[in-house]
Amino acid sequence: MVTSNPALAQLGGYPLASLQDLANELRADGRPLHDFSIGDPDEPTPASIRQALVDAVGPVSRYPTAAGQPALRAAVAGWFARRHGVEVDPTVHVVPSAGSKEAVFHLPLAVLDAHGPRRGVLWGDPGYPVYGRGALFAGGVSDPVTLTAQGGWRLDLGALPTERLAAACMVWINYPHNPTGATVDLGWYREQVAIAREHDLLLASDECYQEIWFDVPAPSVLEACDGDMTGVLAFVSLSKRSGMTGYRSGAIVGDPELIARLKLLRPNIGTASPDFVQAASITAWDDQTHVDERRAIFGAKRDVVLGFFDEAGIEVSGSDASFYVWFRAPGGDDAAYAEALLLERIVASPGRAFGPAGTGWMRLALVPTVEGCQAAVVRWREAISSGRLPS
Ligand SMILES: Cc1ncc(COP(=O)(O)O)c(C=O)c1O
Repeated sequence: MVTSNPALAQLGGYPLASLQDLANELRADGRPLHDFSIGDPDEPTPASIRQALVDAVGPVSRYPTAAGQPALRAAVAGWFARRHGVEVDPTVHVVPSAGSKEAVFHLPLAVLDAHGPRRGVLWGDPGYPVYGRGALFAGGVSDPVTLTAQGGWRLDLGALPTERLAAACMVWINYPHNPTGATVDLGWYREQVAIAREHDLLLASDECYQEIWFDVPAPSVLEACDGDMTGVLAFVSLSKRSGMTGYRSGAIVGDPELIARLKLLRPNIGTASPDFVQAASITAWDDQTHVDERRAIFGAKRDVVLGFFDEAGIEVSGSDASFYVWFRAPGGDDAAYAEALLLERIVASPGRAFGPAGTGWMRLALVPTVEGCQAAVVRWREAISSGRLPS
């Protein structure tokens, strides 16, 4: 038999698979299902972006380059300057990605020495599972750090023992945070940058929800660098910002020495976005109006859900930004509550699907339309008042 990569056996099943199977069974009867489970909203991609893609499809197809079109890197740099007040040089600070996911997965290949003493990759639990999986496939050790409601779901490097920091080569941070929607401020970023540098850790900041904020614009870690990006990378994406999950487009921005390594590594992988996607991405980065419109739509959905939770006495935590609402499972058991909600034709994710520290919590992704959210709330309220759901 052909040998197998042991990392595959360590993955376990896909955490939300059984819930999705059940949801698909329910969907088959044709009646409406209120699906808040997957972070892929229903709003269309703006017409100007779609048109830019169509216009860029030429008669001859060529391989895209991993370094990306200079105009795309310039568009990312322009957006960083306008949105964050951070000057980045498109020739040395930026490399495009085919969305954040592959970039997150592949990053350890550029920094992790699988035979060295610092094989750990730190990341927050609950969190996006790809941080740990990228570490495993690169021959490293996934080292999740427990996050708590009391700690604001923030990963504080200063609270970790020195030995744990010394055994790691990098740390993932992700604010606004999936799954909790928690946010951080510039002061927190400054502290983490300082601690990471003191311990020679790469600080990788996954900022794909950065444009979905409600009260205060979410900062970037690069704002905390004051022009010196040594040891720091920000991962940005058009998926959530511009409704482009299917296009696969983002960028990695930061430390020029690390970007140079990624420019060496990434041509070997073959993940560059096609040139027509890069053209559409330039249009997307150059425009902020559609982003403001999308934010207003998510804000309206969030108001519907938060208003209902307030009325129903359901405890909300985090949920300051992103399109996720994170709440304590009434009755205490997130898996049981997710099943009970399914019987009401409402699909929500049990917090344990994002790591053990999510147990007892639930995540709603604000995927349905505003009207869809209102309809779900009517059903949910009725189920509580009839005693079918615990309050
Ligand atoms: C925290 C986090 N990082 C990265 C991604 C991947 O996003 P992209 O579509 O840019 O690959 C997701 C997708 O849901 C996410 O939740």
